Amino acid sequence: MVAAFYRQVPADDLLGPMYPADDLQGAEQRLRDFLIYRFGGPPRYIEQRGHPRLRMRHAAFSIGEGARERWLQLMNHALDRAEFPDEVSRLLRAFFASTATFLLNRPGS
Ligand code: HEM
Repeated sequence: MVAAFYRQVPADDLLGPMYPADDLQGAEQRLRDFLIYRFGGPPRYIEQRGHPRLRMRHAAFSIGEGARERWLQLMNHALDRAEFPDEVSRLLRAFFASTATFLLNRPGS
């Protein structure tokens, strides 16, 4: 799912420029490790990055409704590709939507 998400990022007009073109693999690894940790797996994310502090780590990026919608669109597409059981997909969609709202730092844009 995370790989499918990141495959779409470089060509995206809104999100593409926000992500580090020279370290997309690293970005992919960070999101993967975070989700593994967040859903009860090994805490590699914490060991490498410390406390997630996601709002702080996203402060450098302009996240309005448009960026939030686009991020969720790409992730929901990646979720469709992953073909998880319905219950898992539903839970992840809800988690991504609420976390994306929490990360809004330019509401109204
Ligand atoms: C709302 C729209 C969002 C935008 C525009 C956005 C954008 C970004 C960008 C540009 C990065 C830097 C990539 C890197 O070098 O790691 C990043 C990192 C990250 N994002 Fe997001 N993101 C969004 C939502 C989310 C959501 C919903 C989650 C969690 C479910 C999330 C989790 C993360 C994590 C874990 C990192 C790596 C943080 C670190 O350790 O440095 N993001 N995001």
